[in-house]
Amino acid sequence: MVDTKEQLQELVLVVGGGGREHALAWKLARSPRVKHVFVSPGNAGTAAGKAVGPEACPIENVALKTHEEIAAFAAREKISLVVVGPEVYLKDGLVDRLKEQGTRVFGPTREESRLEWSKAHAKELLASLSIPTARFLVAETGEEAIALIEKNDFARVIKLDGLAAGKGVYVTAGREEAEEAVRELAASQGLSLCDPMKLVLEETLVGEEVSLFCLADGKMLFSLAAGQDHKRRFEGDQGPNTGGMGAYTPVPLYEKLQASIQEQVVAPLSKALAKGTFSFQGLLFIGLLIDKNGTANVLEFNARFGDPETEAIMPLLESDLYELLEACVEGRLTECKPPRFKEGASVTVVAVNEEYPRSGSKDVPIEIGPMPEGVALFHCGTALKDGHVVTNGGRILAPTAVAATLDEARQLALQALAPERISFKGLAFRRDIACVAKAAGEKICQST
Ligand code: AMP
Ligand code: GLY
Repeated sequence: MVDTKEQLQELVLVVGGGGREHALAWKLARSPRVKHVFVSPGNAGTAAGKAVGPEACPIENVALKTHEEIAAFAAREKISLVVVGPEVYLKDGLVDRLKEQGTRVFGPTREESRLEWSKAHAKELLASLSIPTARFLVAETGEEAIALIEKNDFARVIKLDGLAAGKGVYVTAGREEAEEAVRELAASQGLSLCDPMKLVLEETLVGEEVSLFCLADGKMLFSLAAGQDHKRRFEGDQGPNTGGMGAYTPVPLYEKLQASIQEQVVAPLSKALAKGTFSFQGLLFIGLLIDKNGTANVLEFNARFGDPETEAIMPLLESDLYELLEACVEGRLTECKPPRFKEGASVTVVAVNEEYPRSGSKDVPIEIGPMPEGVALFHCGTALKDGHVVTNGGRILAPTAVAATLDEARQLALQALAPERISFKGLAFRRDIACVAKAAGEKICQST
């Protein structure tokens, strides 16, 4: 047995400032190996002085503005592991920069993160491995895209090949709408239809979306957990798309199809990693769409943890997250035991400001009372102003409840949102997270 003081030695830096980063910091702070977690820039939930529970080490914010500041801090403080949250840092090469100086970092390099921001690259990898995915075509200009749309009746989902903060995908109902989407995408980039602009045109798939999180160490890949998020702003999956109004885990549909998803999606990717067909270290988020025949099609990859799925998954994860991430960085995933999860279910309901996603909210005071047992309150867009918690974004708080069933967890998360526990001007949330709309207007709650 190692002496506890010796075990408690690792310093971790989590990069990002949303609910995902709060949940990662919360979980890493519970590792017996970790003695301090820094978060940059963090939010009011990760600020020093906040009680994070007797079983956790301290969490503290640091304001590091550039890659150079992050790299200098990591070197000076002898950070044992940097965990990168948002995709923009990956695309801008933060992982490459940290690796150059020998800092251990969980996350893909700029080139590896192309799987997220180049949809054409992702589709080509999927096709080469015969992994089920929507039929697709790649166009190099708007003009070529319009010609392909005219000739191919299936090409109705139009995607810009690049990081577009969720705004580069149009699911259209017909030819004219699809062509209009091409024109809008060109205009949004300040380009004409003849200018180079890579687009992916896909067939429309219908089904349930599931977010599958896999850990990759550069040599192999294994499933960590699956969650489902709710992207639409209003109940019954109505209204505009958002960053995510809530999430839950486990996903009964995924549990049912786990063996075939492993065989058709995860195993081919893992083999391809081993063979060097592609390279990836970090969290590979596989966006699945399960159709009515039970086929799991890969819609997209993200090269990072999802938000708000991470908030739902972390409180159920029993294994030491630090050890899992360290094994990825050191290429030792084969030595890890399969991740363990608590029995039961977890539901995250995101509290937003009522104007979201049109606009966010800033500096509005938030009153927070004690949470019910079984609830972890993750902060998303919050800040501290004169010692008081205030709003600082569109998605504000993400109370996450763990209970025996999805239904109980949902009810507990809603109790956390009672006015005496969380209140701010303009507070809004969906009450139907973890429910599925079975028929218009009629919602049937899934049970575990
Ligand atoms: P993506 O960024 O590629 O995941 O697309 C964003 C969202 O658009 C997905 O989460 C789906 O809801 C939807 N979507 C993307 N591709 C398709 C498709 N081929 N068929 C239907 N919906 C899609
Ligand atoms: N929840 C979806 C995402 O993080 O992209």
